[in-house]
Amino acid sequence: MSIFARKPIAELLAHTEGEGGLARALGPASLTALGIGAIIGSGIFVMTGRVAADDAGPAVIVSFLVAGLACALAALCYAELASMVPVAGSAYTYAQAALGEIFAWMIGWDLVLEYAMSGACIASSWSHYFDELLRVAFGVRLPEIIASDPFSSQGRSIVNLPAVLVMGAVTWLLVVGIKQSARANAAMVAIKIAIVIFVIALGASFVSSSNLFGVPIEARKPVVDAASKWGLFASLGIDRSLVSVDDAIRSPFAPYGLSGIMLGSSIVFFAYLGFDCVSTHAEEAIRPKRDVPLAILASLVICTTLYVGVATVLTGMDPYPTIDTHAAAASAFRRRAEAGGGVFLRASAALIALGALAGMTSVLLVTFLGQARIFLAMARDGLLPRSLFASVHPRFRTPHRSTILTGAVTAVVAGFTPITKLEEMVNIGTLTAFSVVCVAVLVLRVRRPDEARAFRCPALFVVAPAGVLVNVVMMLFLPLDTWLRLFVWLALGLAIYFTYGRRSARLARRSGGGA
Ligand code: ALA
Repeated sequence: MSIFARKPIAELLAHTEGEGGLARALGPASLTALGIGAIIGSGIFVMTGRVAADDAGPAVIVSFLVAGLACALAALCYAELASMVPVAGSAYTYAQAALGEIFAWMIGWDLVLEYAMSGACIASSWSHYFDELLRVAFGVRLPEIIASDPFSSQGRSIVNLPAVLVMGAVTWLLVVGIKQSARANAAMVAIKIAIVIFVIALGASFVSSSNLFGVPIEARKPVVDAASKWGLFASLGIDRSLVSVDDAIRSPFAPYGLSGIMLGSSIVFFAYLGFDCVSTHAEEAIRPKRDVPLAILASLVICTTLYVGVATVLTGMDPYPTIDTHAAAASAFRRRAEAGGGVFLRASAALIALGALAGMTSVLLVTFLGQARIFLAMARDGLLPRSLFASVHPRFRTPHRSTILTGAVTAVVAGFTPITKLEEMVNIGTLTAFSVVCVAVLVLRVRRPDEARAFRCPALFVVAPAGVLVNVVMMLFLPLDTWLRLFVWLALGLAIYFTYGRRSARLARRSGGGA
């Protein structure tokens, strides 16, 4: 059997039936809640502040729109695929149907970055907000020695303990069951949306146009290396001919020019990760073909609107160079309270920190649910050991072993590795996966024009190539070292495929199709 062998859609669908199948419990509202649960998290609560202060200035608002566009294009493609192949596994499964085994494996491997490794980044941001909550509510800080990984805070910290603990708690909740987790998720999503709206509504009264459009360009943080914002373009030497574009666009609103906006978009892209999580739950949806596309698009539209609102408020409340890079949404109000703003603002800051913590916890829950399901799909095909990744708990009906393994590995990564670099790697991995999804949907339209599609992406022959283009351009703004890490990761994936996955998948097929 060729490494490019594609899987018949009927065979993929057959996996969802019988003993090993997951319980079908999710309606459209739960699916959209899962989407929002996976999307709104550390991206909006942490990265908005950091990108505004360091990379894009108030034009972080535009960065959000660019990243939103990239996701919308990919989301339309995801939606069509999810309506055709409503099986756990998301982009991995679609690649099995459209492109063949080796591509599918590489995408699945790539998705580990998006799902498991993003969990480590979120857990680290969780820790920042936990510290902010202690500060605003009780006037104390976490002891530095347990507040950060040893690389980001050299010599002063040994472990990010809150990040490790929150990973442990999330893992436990997920092992206990999808029903309970979906309920806990729905509650946290409600809190999270309420908090985001609260930030926008309360912050709106403090917005000043002079912060958005009047901070002199000279006030920006010094740019040590102008090329650093051009990512791979700079490494290829193309940035020199593009510097004039930066200069033409530079203004108090966009102090770092086009490169700042685009680098910003490739970073805040993280804030959108998760909409595809809905498609990893297709197998648990009651009416997957209709509700999965609907939920993907609904959650993306809602989140983009909220993000633009928050980005406008945070950059309008304070001059961007002074915005807090760790916990901007809460600290903007805490600082105002400390400057004589009174008890209400302090209480608001505490409430926001609490809401952000709940929000990030819900992202962790959904992301990990998604990861376990992708592993499940890969194990069913024999690409991963089935005893570990395809076993479903007899009572809880959850993929308990892979959840525990993912939780343990992520806890270690969150506790001990430098997170900003990991965020970039998560983004580049996900942008790659999204680009492949855009290609996969095109391939299936051409090869299987008659296959039933509950949702057909409109103008697919424009949308899918545009999706690839925007996603790849955003990747190009990430630095060379991030690209190198991606290649190392992919090389490792290939090595595993050729030493284990390929042979094991062949055996699984021989012994009856893998289900
Ligand atoms: N979009 C998710 C977040 O921002 C990953 O936390």
